[in-house]
Amino acid sequence: MLYLGSAWYPEQWPEDRWPRDVALMRQAEMNVVRIGDYAWSRLEPEEGRLDLDWMERAIDLAVEHGLEVVICTPTDAPPAWMTQRYPDVLRTDETGKRVGHGGRRHFSPTSPRYREFSRKIASTLAQRFGRRPGVIGWQIGNEYVHPSYDEATLELFHSYLERKHGSLDVLNRRWGTQYWSQTYTAWSQVPFPVGWHNPGLVLDHSRFVTQCFVDYQRDQIDALREHVSPDRWITHNSHGYDKIDWRTISQDLDLASWDVYVGDRAMDPVRLGWISDRCRCLRPRPHWIMETQPWHVNWSPVNRTLPKGGFRALIWHYLAHGAEAVLFWQWRAGLGGQEQYHGTVLGHDGEPGPAYGEIQRAGREMKRVAGVFADQRVRADVAIVQGYTDCWAIEGQRMTPAFDMADHLSNYYRPLRKAGHDVDVIDPADPFEGYRLILAPSLHLLTPELVGRIEAFVRQGGHFLLGPRSGFKDEHNALLPSRQPGDRLAELLGASVEGYLIPAERVPAAGPIGSGWADVWTEFLTCSADDAQVLLSYGASVEGWSEGRAAMVTRRVGEGRISCLGAWLEASLMEAAVGWACEHSAASTPALAPAVGVEVSRRPGRDGERLIVINHQAAPAVADLPRAYIDELTGDRLEGSVELAPHGVMVLREA
Ligand code: GAL
Repeated sequence: MLYLGSAWYPEQWPEDRWPRDVALMRQAEMNVVRIGDYAWSRLEPEEGRLDLDWMERAIDLAVEHGLEVVICTPTDAPPAWMTQRYPDVLRTDETGKRVGHGGRRHFSPTSPRYREFSRKIASTLAQRFGRRPGVIGWQIGNEYVHPSYDEATLELFHSYLERKHGSLDVLNRRWGTQYWSQTYTAWSQVPFPVGWHNPGLVLDHSRFVTQCFVDYQRDQIDALREHVSPDRWITHNSHGYDKIDWRTISQDLDLASWDVYVGDRAMDPVRLGWISDRCRCLRPRPHWIMETQPWHVNWSPVNRTLPKGGFRALIWHYLAHGAEAVLFWQWRAGLGGQEQYHGTVLGHDGEPGPAYGEIQRAGREMKRVAGVFADQRVRADVAIVQGYTDCWAIEGQRMTPAFDMADHLSNYYRPLRKAGHDVDVIDPADPFEGYRLILAPSLHLLTPELVGRIEAFVRQGGHFLLGPRSGFKDEHNALLPSRQPGDRLAELLGASVEGYLIPAERVPAAGPIGSGWADVWTEFLTCSADDAQVLLSYGASVEGWSEGRAAMVTRRVGEGRISCLGAWLEASLMEAAVGWACEHSAASTPALAPAVGVEVSRRPGRDGERLIVINHQAAPAVADLPRAYIDELTGDRLEGSVELAPHGVMVLREA
């Protein structure tokens, strides 16, 4: 099954309007609708006085019209009666100020009272709708964001630290608190890391924030599971806020879903594709795109929309990366409220908006191929490793604004996609088996266990490539007392990093794999093994330190290979480096090398693979097909050089 749908807020509209909404959804070829997030004040207008009948009628209407329903618990926005009577449900911000009513996400995930209220409302909804035919899944809250900085949460943080480190002696040692006289002699002395703080404290607090949401979510999972039939899934809609470790959050969920917005930039298949590939690898079953924009957003400095054809291409882009469902946010703008200006599927008048026809077209196409893709999971043989803790540690000490982790990760991802490789984006804790090539742009924090798995992967025939700032610290965010990439990996690589610097000007780099420039970050390596091969060396630089030294080294180990690229490279040399890594691995050759601006993805189907080819440009593009294919969307047989219309899409099956 493939799903197309939207978020819908029936509680904001007179009931006699609902049939028209549902009919228009069906006409748009939608088959799923998501309701309930933010409906608390309608579900429980006064403490203990519940009104679920309207929701039942909305669900019935949707189901009668052939839509399936996802119910969200409304816990992202507690109602005013609650925040007024029980101010302890509100969160406290970093400055120590309690957040007021009127926005959203004003709750504290650690407030025992709020957790109890949330558990209760989730349980109430589950008792009523948990086994109802047509309700296929549940979403808990909406996009976890803010922790609380109140006194009670600080105490929870102390208990968390005590459980984790066991004793203050251990904590002091791990965090290196001799520094600036930080040594703690009582748990109660440990502060929230507001301001410039010890890296160990900062990292543990980030982990703690994720743990707060794991616990908060757990209450609702348990409440739902008690009444929801076991064949219905539970999810949470993750999003771009990287202060939460979404892998940890998703471990307790049946299905991973993500809210992905283009925002005010042009559609960038690299930025968006990365998010989808990350989400796809969070859980074994196919993921959902729980929200995306059906026109413009309202939260960018300049809120532009996508060009004509762009929304159909956007839907296909998500499907190409393995999504089972694409849902828009939202159906129709509330006449009041903060998001009046956000783009919607319908216009203010409740009639189809400009992109409606495109959505409908994609919906028809999805129906045509739904049977082929049902329950099929995309699995790549090339992976990029992204650890949330690595990102947090580096973002906390960037050393240069240019060392932006999103840019850095894209630099590795882009050339792979450009060459037509599918990419899994995994966590360092995920299994490495099954991959042929793993790129780790910055494996900053090392544990002996992780080192052991890298070694096993390499010895058994994999190629593992480490990027700059790898093997720098331990899991507590303390420096390793060894040269990068850490003693054991340096031994395997037959080389180690002698020093690093941020160059004042770009530095030439050249070697057997190509030539170009390094920028942003340069690590210079020294080889200790005769069979370590230098792939790139630095030329003359303003600083002079790196001149003639290695920037990239590789070595065969066991059946496989380990490589280290110590420099941040400009695009064309990066492409050469990644291309070399692919060639020197057992990664499968892409079926089709995409033309500029064209995205190619492989998606397994029940009766064999499909190639999804998308032209993201406003100009026509050409795809050179290596063999004859049938385009599933048109039934046409295609061969040789084929022209793709602006924002055109093809779903190809070998003829
Ligand atoms: C999402 C949020 C939605 C809506 C949307 C607007 O982050 O989950 O409720 O606010 O942004 O783009």
